[in-house]
Amino acid sequence: MSDIAAPEVRVWQGLERVAREILSRYGFDELRTPVVEFESVFTRSIGETTDVVQKEMYVFEKGGRRLCLRPEGTAGVMRHAAGLGAQETDGARWFYVGPMFRSERPQAGRRRQFHQCGVECLEPPSPRVDAEILALQVELLKAWGLDGCTVKLATRGSGGDAARVAEGLRGALEPHRESLCEDCRRRLSENVLRVLDCKNDGCRRIVETLPPPTDFMGGESRDYLAQVAAHLDALGLAYRLDPRLVRGLDYYEHTVWEIEGAHLGAQNAIAGGGRYRMNLGGRELTGVGFAIGLERVVAMLQAMERDATLMAAPPRLAWLVGLGEEAMNQNLVLMQSLRAAGIVCRMAAGGSLKSQMRAANKAGAAWAVIRGDDELAQAVAAVKDMATGEQRRLPLDQLAGALSA
Ligand code: HAM
Repeated sequence: MSDIAAPEVRVWQGLERVAREILSRYGFDELRTPVVEFESVFTRSIGETTDVVQKEMYVFEKGGRRLCLRPEGTAGVMRHAAGLGAQETDGARWFYVGPMFRSERPQAGRRRQFHQCGVECLEPPSPRVDAEILALQVELLKAWGLDGCTVKLATRGSGGDAARVAEGLRGALEPHRESLCEDCRRRLSENVLRVLDCKNDGCRRIVETLPPPTDFMGGESRDYLAQVAAHLDALGLAYRLDPRLVRGLDYYEHTVWEIEGAHLGAQNAIAGGGRYRMNLGGRELTGVGFAIGLERVVAMLQAMERDATLMAAPPRLAWLVGLGEEAMNQNLVLMQSLRAAGIVCRMAAGGSLKSQMRAANKAGAAWAVIRGDDELAQAVAAVKDMATGEQRRLPLDQLAGALSA
């Protein structure tokens, strides 16, 4: 878990500013859900046998309740939706930006606290909506300055396909049982799809020899994917079909995708998404959405030397300098009125003229606004341009105008 400080924090602010602008153009409202949820919100949606639930959640007990730090955003949004009436959820479009927590082995690109920018769209299932949401995600990445990302597209099939896919994969994997890792031998009976996600080299080699899950799906699921692909073609969006992409969460059905970034090393999944179904509170809800890992976005921008383009230019700073206690006191009042007029200003807590000028320099001030007894008596200030060293006296009522020029 790490702190995000200036100047990097300005890149983060830039990412959020651009995201909010684009997301509102697509009709999304922000939803801020708590960081702490009941553990069951995730076990019932992400799935008991996924790595996220079995190995990565921060779970704790308080007042006899099993709570956890949210490992992702989708389930919390759907928990919120389940508490609303159909009128409020039909067609709802929500986005979120915030920290998520997974207790994974830390390494480059993998944090225990990381941040996602995600969306969830609760419109009725349609390949058109899936394509629109994927197009939104690609637009966001481009607007942030990321090109060179690869979209991998697949289908998890309809709910009805799940048993056939599991049976088919189990049959194909059974002859390799002895060569699978211990986890995967367990997954064979528990949740065979998770074998396709195993990071173990030996298991990966076996997975490459398997027939893709689509081979065991009905025509309806393959047709749904073909329609999504056709919409993406019409939108001119490049993607690669990757039939073995399953994603690490169990709530998906039909369309799933992952976006790979460049310059990121092993942890190159910059974003993931798809269509899902879950029941968190008596009402089954379906939606489609995605989440983008912001640490990885920042890392990729830094590797491409594009991070600075997202930073807003720092405002021009005026530093108030007072000679003597009375001038410092009056400067506090002047500083507040300048701020009210939109000027960015600061002053030191005290000290000599020299030390105050040093502080102004260190802060990168554009101007020093200097007042002593003389200036106070005449209601003027000496304004020094820190770049040129040029100094002029100005009446107080002209100060704000001069400092905003
Ligand atoms: P996910 O693929 O688990 O999907 O996470 C989305 C993104 O979060 C990843 O592609 C990655 O960039 C970032 N990420 C995940 N774990 C870490 C980590 N430990 N450190 C840094 N970055 C990380 C979801 O979370 C789904 N809720 C996405 C979704 C929304 N599907 C439908 N709606």
